[in-house]
Amino acid sequence: MTTSDQATTMTETARPLRELPAPMSLPLIGDTLAFIADTAGYLAKRTRDLGPVFRIDVFGKPTACFVGPEALSVFLDERNVVRDGANPPHVEEIFNPKAVPFLDGDAHRRRKKLLLEAFTDDALASYLPMIERVVGRFARRWVEIGPFEWVPELTSMGYAIAGALFVGSDPDVDDATIEEAFERAAAGLLAPPIRLPFTTFGRALKSRDYLLGVVDAALDAREGGERKADLLQRLIDARVGKEKLSREELRIETFHFFGAYAAVIGGLSFLGQLLAQHPDVAARAREEIEAEHGGTLTLGDLRRMRYLDAVCKESRRVSTVVPITFFGRVRRECSFRGYRIPEGMKAIGCLDATMHDAQTFGDPSKFDPDRWRKAGNRQAEAWVPHGAGAHASGHRCAGEKLATLMLKVFAIQMLRGYTWQLTPGQDLTPTRGKLFATPSGGLRVRVTRRHA
Ligand code: HEM
Repeated sequence: MTTSDQATTMTETARPLRELPAPMSLPLIGDTLAFIADTAGYLAKRTRDLGPVFRIDVFGKPTACFVGPEALSVFLDERNVVRDGANPPHVEEIFNPKAVPFLDGDAHRRRKKLLLEAFTDDALASYLPMIERVVGRFARRWVEIGPFEWVPELTSMGYAIAGALFVGSDPDVDDATIEEAFERAAAGLLAPPIRLPFTTFGRALKSRDYLLGVVDAALDAREGGERKADLLQRLIDARVGKEKLSREELRIETFHFFGAYAAVIGGLSFLGQLLAQHPDVAARAREEIEAEHGGTLTLGDLRRMRYLDAVCKESRRVSTVVPITFFGRVRRECSFRGYRIPEGMKAIGCLDATMHDAQTFGDPSKFDPDRWRKAGNRQAEAWVPHGAGAHASGHRCAGEKLATLMLKVFAIQMLRGYTWQLTPGQDLTPTRGKLFATPSGGLRVRVTRRHA
């Protein structure tokens, strides 16, 4: 019996099912404004008031929300919830309705398996030297510029790496047009879908087209015989049996990968912030890094750094970058703990609320990497910054290993070579009303070299 069957069966009592609990909300607008303004805060409050499953009304649709590993297992079961046609049309339009987050069944599994070929250990090991080089280049720069805002700098660094991985651009050259275009495209996902040249959504579509042009140029070059040792090449070369990605699939997914990189920037900035706020944790991680890593960094070194792994894991738990999954749609009536989840309702997995549940993570807002030493299955299943469930057969983030690698390389280079202090008096709360959270004040820091 699957976890989802257990979750559903546990609820099958002789009593009739109850309707999902729901907050009071305004007619027509529903909960949309509050949901967009602060998704994590809004869902955390609803979870406290209503429990692990509840209904909200967003984007004009009743939506079932699932919190915690048991409820999420109902949401993740494709027999209950599918993604096809579930997301707001303007979100699908920016990403492309045929992008992997919106696929189901065999079409999803085929695409996902091919995409995961670009994230094997062999592939990650081949990206490692470039990532180290770019992080090193930026770190040297940060020492020179006095106090500065880290978020924009990490954004430039992230997109320099993304450009090198996804379109083979020169990692030593920064291209501000790409990061600006992605910021405009991402802004369109939360904007009213008014298609005019001067609206946020209109500008998002224009930026999307510009970026697709960048991807097309890279694909043209590869079709013309160019080969590079980058992630795009891995995607082009990916084979599962006789299957391979078509040009259109490569175009759609490379664009999505670029967009997904914005989440890495949030992850890096919160990690930098937390290490500065917890010098004891930084000192322990530094000690481990110095013991485990001498010359060229390898995946083996990273695997041995258990404390660093816990630090990077805990930073993604305590400071959530992406509060929810993509939307799903309930395809058959199901239930959870006596509540009826009706067919046709929209559905989301609440990731931030799952990771801040005090029943699972005692003192959930405390940054405590040591909690992972004594963590059991429940904590492992509730650690969902990249979505829940399986990678190949489900919708869990394809880039999770790459994102983890990025966080570790960043922490290793910074802790080995530098110290950094946060400027006092700044707003460190996570941004609200943005797709990917970062520290609100931009994270002002001063970076100093450790050894003169
Ligand atoms: C810290 C960084 C990241 C975080 C927190 C993150 C988080 C997420 C989340 C929450 C989902 C949605 C899961 C769902 O709907 O059930 C997702 C999906 C996805 N992510 Fe990430 N992500 C990150 C980095 C990346 C990177 C770097 C890439 C690619 C290079 C990537 C590629 C994807 C893809 C392709 C999906 C869709 C998977 C599917 O639907 O099967 N992500 N990610």
